Amino acid sequence: MTTKILFVCLGNICRSPAAEGVFRSLAPEVETDSAGTGSWHVGEPPYGPMQAAAQARGHDLSDLRARQFHTGDFSAFDLIIGMDDANIEDIERLRPAGNATPVKRFTDYAPGCGLDHVPDPYYTRDFDAVLDIVEEAAKGLRASL
Ligand code: 4NP
Repeated sequence: MTTKILFVCLGNICRSPAAEGVFRSLAPEVETDSAGTGSWHVGEPPYGPMQAAAQARGHDLSDLRARQFHTGDFSAFDLIIGMDDANIEDIERLRPAGNATPVKRFTDYAPGCGLDHVPDPYYTRDFDAVLDIVEEAAKGLRASL
C-alpha cells in the first residue's frame, strides 16, 4: 500500500494544501505533504480565502506552510500528485535518472468531475468549486490505495 503522498501545485498556497488538508481528514493514517513548483510563496500559510473555504467544510489548513518541490521528493514519496499538466511537466523535468515514482493528475481520481485539471482558484476565485473537485478526488484516491 502507498504510504507517503505528495500533492503539488504551482504556488503551494491554494490547490495542493487544500488537497493535503482534505485528504488527511479522510485518511489520517497516510503520510502526506504538499509543495509548489514555484518558489514565490515559500514559508507562507495557505491563502486566506482558501483556508476559509476549507475551514467551512471542516478542513483546518492553518498548520501548513509552502515549500518548493525538489528532486529529492521523488525518493521521499511513493506517489506524487499534480493539479494540472503544467505541474506534471515541471515535476517530470526534475525526475532523477532511474527513478520510477508514479506522478498522477489529481483529477484522474475524480472521473465524475469531467475535468482534466483542478482549476487554479487564485485566478478563478471560485474556492468552493475547487473544494468540490478536491473532495471527490480525495475520496477516489483513498479508495485506490
Ligand atoms: P496554487 O495557486 O498553485 O493553487 O497555490 C497559485 C497561487 C499563487 C500563484 C500561482 C498559483 N502565484 O503566482 O503567486
